[in-house]
Amino acid sequence: MNDLTPTREQRTAALEGMGCKRKRVEDIRFTQGKGNYVDDVKLPGMLHGDFVRSPHAHARVKKIDDTEALKVPGVLAVITAETLKTVNLAWMPTLAGDVQMVLADGKVLFQNQEVAFVVATDRYAADDGVNKVVVEYEPLPPLIDPFKAMDKDAPVLREDLAGKTSGAHGPRKHHNHIFEWTVGDKELTDAAFKKAEVTIKEMISYHRTHPSPLETCQCVCSFDKIKGELTIWGTFQAPHVIRTVVSLIAKLPEQKIHVISPDIGGGFGNKVGAYPGYICAAVASIVTGKPVKWVEDRIENLTATSFARDYHMTTEIASTREGKVTGLRVHVLADHGAFDACADPSKWPAGFFNIVTGSYDFPTAHLAVDGIYTNKAPGGVAYRCSFRVTEAAYCIERAMDILAQKLGMDPAELRLRNFIKPEQFPYHSALGWEYDSGDYATAMKKAMETVKYAELRKEQAALREAFKRGETREIMGVGVSFFTEIVGAGPSKNCDILGIAMFDSCEIRMHPTGTGIARMGTKSQGQGHETTWAQIIATEIGIPADNIMVEEGNTDTAPYGLGTYGSRSTPVAGAAIAMAARKIKAKAQMIAAYKLEVHEDDLEWDIDGFRVKGLPEKFMSMKDLCWAAYNSVPPGMEPGLEAVSYYDPPNMTYPFGAYICVMDIDVDTGVYKVRRFYALDDCGTRINPMIIEGQVHGGLTEAFAIAMGQEIRYDADGNVVTGSFMDFFMPTAVETPHWETDFTVTPSPHHPIGAKGVGESPNVGGVPAFSNAVNDAFSFLGSTHIQMPHDFWRNWKAAKELGAVA
Ligand code: CDP
Repeated sequence: MNDLTPTREQRTAALEGMGCKRKRVEDIRFTQGKGNYVDDVKLPGMLHGDFVRSPHAHARVKKIDDTEALKVPGVLAVITAETLKTVNLAWMPTLAGDVQMVLADGKVLFQNQEVAFVVATDRYAADDGVNKVVVEYEPLPPLIDPFKAMDKDAPVLREDLAGKTSGAHGPRKHHNHIFEWTVGDKELTDAAFKKAEVTIKEMISYHRTHPSPLETCQCVCSFDKIKGELTIWGTFQAPHVIRTVVSLIAKLPEQKIHVISPDIGGGFGNKVGAYPGYICAAVASIVTGKPVKWVEDRIENLTATSFARDYHMTTEIASTREGKVTGLRVHVLADHGAFDACADPSKWPAGFFNIVTGSYDFPTAHLAVDGIYTNKAPGGVAYRCSFRVTEAAYCIERAMDILAQKLGMDPAELRLRNFIKPEQFPYHSALGWEYDSGDYATAMKKAMETVKYAELRKEQAALREAFKRGETREIMGVGVSFFTEIVGAGPSKNCDILGIAMFDSCEIRMHPTGTGIARMGTKSQGQGHETTWAQIIATEIGIPADNIMVEEGNTDTAPYGLGTYGSRSTPVAGAAIAMAARKIKAKAQMIAAYKLEVHEDDLEWDIDGFRVKGLPEKFMSMKDLCWAAYNSVPPGMEPGLEAVSYYDPPNMTYPFGAYICVMDIDVDTGVYKVRRFYALDDCGTRINPMIIEGQVHGGLTEAFAIAMGQEIRYDADGNVVTGSFMDFFMPTAVETPHWETDFTVTPSPHHPIGAKGVGESPNVGGVPAFSNAVNDAFSFLGSTHIQMPHDFWRNWKAAKELGAVA
């Protein structure tokens, strides 16, 4: 070795593999405005579609008159449910086993529901046409309050379901009931409550909200009549699933459908499902023989595409006087809006809400969820969440604080007393999950030490005394949240979408010069997959990440996969990537053995190539092995170096975290200040610490928005009163607090590289931390639970109701 020979550290660093803060390669194009989004797709002769939408939440559609619209210059067609019936597409199946109107068929069931689709030569003409369509409505009584949905005299919303006493998930109890889903041991849980020394019961609501990706939902559909092929560019988080769904409902052969998800400006669950815009644009293209573009505006996005949350969770905990929990009982009233269009794995009508036992060792638990229809937009997407996990984490984390308050115990202490212990993993929860790994107490204690928790509590006690003496009008809250997530849908034994198992895939093809291309079934919408997937491959096969091109989102070239949402990409596709890379490495080892004239077993892997054991000078780099794969493979071996893996994970992964929020609230104005927010995440092996930090910053900002103001709110008539960014809280850099991030590493024992997902964690853990901080502040004035969102006005109102404001 001379001075110029790179050291082991230099060779490792040159790969920019796992653990490296590699800069995001996609940012080279994004920061220069050179991304390629759906709206950048411009095809010759392309037409534009726009929707006529309902002003009413519930009304009968008596007549649609398109005479004047068709006179608008540029308007070519007005598509209604009657048009769609001719091709059997007036209704479409939902992922949750329900059906949904594509265009209003006889009735409208929520404000801004799609009524007609105007097709024109440009977007302005389409919009002018929309304004000229005359729709005659007969208003019907709207059903907005979910607690009244199953009243005897509640209006019948879904006339198409008349007489149907069972749905996709079992019996229906009422004409507005969708399903009842129960998990756990009711008898044992009821018995635990009977015996309990202490119990708490609270109705904890997680309000209706909505993701806000930079780019709204959109598509371009282009039907080639000669070839009978349909190409769809769209903002799809799961392009392969969209291709299968289009094939099934449009009765087009799947190989003749090409779905392309180009660059996507954020998804957050909003872009998983199928929307009427996609169907109408496809039909319009088939009918006109021209490409048709549909681009949603912000109001349409907020009010008509899939909402999130809207869970009303009556939560009870049984406990000993010393604070050892003995039982959990939860009933959820789930408001699904007009159609059950939840984007959950098919068998899970309430997603993975049964993770609601959280990080605590509950000996028994019982959960019942009732899904109901109301006159609101359909959906129920996992807004930066793994299928209702966010609701579950909020439910248990608020409830633990309420129990701590009743016991007169510190909320962090109560958590430490009830954590599942490291030696209990793999841990079988009372509601049916097998947690893979965790070390909760270590994470909690690290968080408490970092923020100097004990000192914060002393300061809070002193401030409370000062408040009582009238020396301050500010109250201080310390919000603790310790969450366990369940991500990585999923094992085929648990999860499928419309019968397709939720595996994921990776195909790697190495070129002779030691570079390669890797394709996956996932689709990044800002998560940086092009950067991090190459890092996994770099570490696994010793080729620099810069030499691996990552491509996602084209169903013609990518192997079939179930897409990106619910932090499933790293647990599932991340594993497929490692497994495909290991196949490449295994073949390379055979080639190396042949070239170095030794047995395979005499070789050892050394960062970026194979070395003969005991003979360090006999070495062949992976780069040279790529070349050899194309010209001198062992006799009988096929040339080339490529591999594919379809990975069906044996289990989900269970990331966790300890978050602490310190907040001051002025009781006279309700104005709050987030003094400090500390987030410790454990996502197992960390692929790219910088990307993880970015994911946590983004997710915490969304959590802050949701907890402190972001809400889709309806008035009593069913009008959306927060349907634009004027009213829907969208924090900018000005309002957003400073984030402190930290980590521990507890690898997943079943994942090939030990990684767990992370993208959703900050939203899941952040919301309860904020809400617990607000509630902790107000608890001193005698309150037990204040519902989110905690905006200034509501804080002021709470202070007034608690007698702190005259
Ligand atoms: O499915 P989605 O991509 O939204 O979520 P994820 O699997 O949590 O990954 C989000 C981003 O964080 C990806 O770029 C991952 O590679 C990265 N990540 C990481 O660097 N290390 C982890 N242990 C988990 C995720």
